[in-house]
Amino acid sequence: MSQTEAAASHAKAPNDLESLWLPFTPNRHFKRDPRLVARAKDMHYFKPDGTPVLDGTAGLWCANAGHCRDKIVSAIQAQAAELDFAPSFQFSHPKAFEVANQLVAMTPEGLDYAFFCNSGSEAADTALKMAIAYHRANGEASRTRLIGRERGYHGVGFGGISVGGMSPNRKFYGSLLPGVDHLPHTYNRAEQAFTRGEPAWGAYLADELQRLVDLHDASTIAAVIVEPMAGSTGALPPPQGYLKRLRELCDKHGILLIFDEVITGFGRLGHATAAERFGVTPDIMTFAKGVTSAAVPMGGAMVGRHVYEAFQSGPDHMIDLFHGYTYSGHPLAMAAALATFELYREEGLFERARANEAAFADAAFTLKGHPLVLDIRTIGMVAAFDLAPVEGLMGKRGYDAMCNAFHEQNIMVRVSGDTIAFSPPLIIEEAQMGELFERFKKALDAVA
Ligand SMILES: Cc1ncc(COP(=O)(O)O)c(C=O)c1O
Repeated sequence: MSQTEAAASHAKAPNDLESLWLPFTPNRHFKRDPRLVARAKDMHYFKPDGTPVLDGTAGLWCANAGHCRDKIVSAIQAQAAELDFAPSFQFSHPKAFEVANQLVAMTPEGLDYAFFCNSGSEAADTALKMAIAYHRANGEASRTRLIGRERGYHGVGFGGISVGGMSPNRKFYGSLLPGVDHLPHTYNRAEQAFTRGEPAWGAYLADELQRLVDLHDASTIAAVIVEPMAGSTGALPPPQGYLKRLRELCDKHGILLIFDEVITGFGRLGHATAAERFGVTPDIMTFAKGVTSAAVPMGGAMVGRHVYEAFQSGPDHMIDLFHGYTYSGHPLAMAAALATFELYREEGLFERARANEAAFADAAFTLKGHPLVLDIRTIGMVAAFDLAPVEGLMGKRGYDAMCNAFHEQNIMVRVSGDTIAFSPPLIIEEAQMGELFERFKKALDAVA
């Protein structure tokens, strides 16, 4: 068969799963036993055969307002017909400014400007580049070192994986960025197991930043980046007082503090941002995911006036920041964001998440005592379960639980190693919380 004939015969086989290489997925196993969804509405996905699947993860921590919400769908449809694209280098369009204004209003005082990109990974790399360039613009070009944290996740760009602290995401990719160091992670099962909200133990771990300053000298450090609640390695709420301590040390040493709020933004912790919940404002805050309730890819970075203004001293015709993406401020994303913000406001979804936090935690904690459950952590509309691993096969228990949950129990959960995380759309009803964890228990029983 010629190459053209082979391609044509391939195209005639719509159910052939072979050609697609899925991200962060064991592809061989997936293709033998695929987990496919074909449609979604509100709290549910629907399998190709129409079976509803209760969404315990808001897709991937992102569809915070629920799926295919009419207001967002109509806004995207109308926008596609009105202005499909506008360049954001040297040009723009009105909705981009409107989104920026609303973001400034939604985020804590001290975050005065919004920069747009298309994903959380781009947002993290944007924030890191801004931090290094900020110090250079201020005449402190020696401040290039970036400090991340073990068990941190900041997407998959080279910047993000360098400051990130998940070894499988790092070890395949060479030497990464130079001049990076890491704070220790904040999880300690012996001290924190089965905590709701912020654990009492562990604030002192922020003082490790002082150790890194002593080691490297503040004059070499540009920024510290942390997720206020580490999400991807299993939902680790910050110890009480930890973030305040980090803020104090950053202030003391002229280091920029970056919060990666890609997961925690837009109501996940019962507030517009985790910064608001924890009463700590960073210099730069990344966001993505919930900004459009996942309906159109979008991300960005909010920055303080001091950061923006550091770049405003060149000649009038000169570009101030040599960074950006073709699709920064894409009209479809802007329309989706504006409609999403309206839904968040009209339905009081952040307040709803706050009001539901205790009920959600109660429902999750009904699994305490299950023989496979080693720890449960909850905060906002997040719950994570550490499962007892299968001996010698790290991640197998979690994977099997996730597969069983989808195929047999018709719920979608997020797996990370042997941890299963829940982060449902904020519109979840109390009865659905009960249903979610009852079905999860059955999945655990099946893989015990
Ligand atoms: C904290 C954090 N930062 C960055 C990212 C990367 O976002 P994206 O997958 O949109 O690139 C994620 C994704 O889960 C995240 O949780």
